[in-house]
Amino acid sequence: MPVVILISGSGSNLQSIIDGVQAGDLPIDIRAVISNQAEAHGLQRAKAAGIHTEVVNHRDYPSREDFDRALQAAIDAHEPALVILAGFMRILSHAFVEHYLGRMLNIHPALLPHFPGLNTHERALQDGVQEHGATVHFVTTEVDGGPRVLQARVPVRAGDSPDDLAARVLEQEHRIFPQAIRWFAEGRLKMQYDKVLLDDKPLPTSGIDFADIPADSAD
Ligand code: GAR
Repeated sequence: MPVVILISGSGSNLQSIIDGVQAGDLPIDIRAVISNQAEAHGLQRAKAAGIHTEVVNHRDYPSREDFDRALQAAIDAHEPALVILAGFMRILSHAFVEHYLGRMLNIHPALLPHFPGLNTHERALQDGVQEHGATVHFVTTEVDGGPRVLQARVPVRAGDSPDDLAARVLEQEHRIFPQAIRWFAEGRLKMQYDKVLLDDKPLPTSGIDFADIPADSAD
């Protein structure tokens, strides 16, 4: 299944997807990795894996809509069946999101609907929550509000810094994102209106808890 992956930074989620493909666990063809930041480390990871890379720099465009149009043209040139937002840190316009409705997945570093937006780990610590985590969801016009596919939970420990928590959450991101992408590539995962269907059955609104997936089918 042809996919295009969008990144803005380190690309550790991208790496987990590349690793899945290289291990023969993920039936996708990464046609391109596109970044809005020329210096994103993820571009080096993609190049090291022999994947085509492009930069579409938002600073080169007068408006969000102009940037999104250029980004859409760059993506569509590769005819992806799925667009993967792997740490892509731009808010997307409604027209862009609607163009990819039902075929764009995002990973968010919090247990949505808690902590949408930025600085999720700092905010989780400030709020004193005992549990934090990550969510894979389909992208809709509501920022971080699309139907949820998978969540993974981590404990918040006394004395955690935002970086401690980020590292614990990232480890789980690297498990749940490839899993959701695999389901989509296998034709098992679909978005229908505001619901997610897995094997034609609607998921609960919070999505599936990764801990509930039997170990032998999870990786
Ligand atoms: C990840 O934690 C991802 O969930 C988050 O950015 C990080 C990217 O890390 N995404 C968002 O906050 C989207 N709003 P990575 O570049 O190492 O994959």
